[in-house]
Amino acid sequence: MKVILLGTAAGGGCPQWNCACRLCTSGLVPRSQDCVAISADGAGWYLLNCSPDIRAQILATPALRAGPGPREIPLRGVLLTDAELDHALGLLMLREAGGLPVWAPEAALSALSPFRSIVDGYGGWTWLSAVNIPGLRVDVLPVSNKRPKYAPAGPEGPWVVAYRIEDPATGGVLVYAPCLQSWPPGFDTLVSGADLVLLDGTFYAADEMAGVGGPDQLAMGHLPITASLPRITARPGPHWALTHVNNTNPVLDPTSAEHAAVLAAGALLPPDGTTYVL
Ligand code: MLT
Ligand code: MN
Ligand code: ZN
Repeated sequence: MKVILLGTAAGGGCPQWNCACRLCTSGLVPRSQDCVAISADGAGWYLLNCSPDIRAQILATPALRAGPGPREIPLRGVLLTDAELDHALGLLMLREAGGLPVWAPEAALSALSPFRSIVDGYGGWTWLSAVNIPGLRVDVLPVSNKRPKYAPAGPEGPWVVAYRIEDPATGGVLVYAPCLQSWPPGFDTLVSGADLVLLDGTFYAADEMAGVGGPDQLAMGHLPITASLPRITARPGPHWALTHVNNTNPVLDPTSAEHAAVLAAGALLPPDGTTYVL
């Protein structure tokens, strides 16, 4: 299975358009918003989340570009972990896709109904809560009930899931968990035997958003890296890679003590475009 990290930043990317914090103004290599492409055969590709940056991400990734037919595309479907706008708005950009299956938790599908009716106007989309991808085995773990700000209260949840995706042909296993409010029940089983875990790296510390007048980060549904690092160190099997990194997160500065602490704990901070073969 091929895995391409199309984007590795949290909502807004880095730099973020409305932010003048030290990291957004220090000329770091830019990161686009969290999105991953996977393929078992190198020909048909599935997106894990669909970021507002999807157009640039596709154009920057030869395997995802259209062809050889004039309107032939290699995308075969989209799996959403949640209904947050940084994970779902790209569906509007893909409206001419001619209809792709989109999988998401039931509550996320209901929150997305305004966007669904827009893209449905372009025809052929299928919205599903039970994942079924030919050639790959997918397990879904509910991980939290964090509801997007724009979504009306109502559905019970789960609002957010993590995916374990196995290629039966190679035995390669990817776990994708960019939004973890806690280290949830069942997560150790999900990551057991995985080759690569793409883990929520949104915030380094619990009070990080205070510096830019933001909400408490736990209320935003993200376990800080300080809480996940000891767990990563205690579970040395898979490659651990942090993604969905927020523009406020000091780990983005490769000269920071926090960046060094992540690497010392055995985790990686791969940039956009990183490719793995599992
Ligand atoms: C999140 O990851 O917590 C959300 O994307 C935040 C947001 O966009 O409101
Ligand atoms: Mn987000
Ligand atoms: Zn910033």
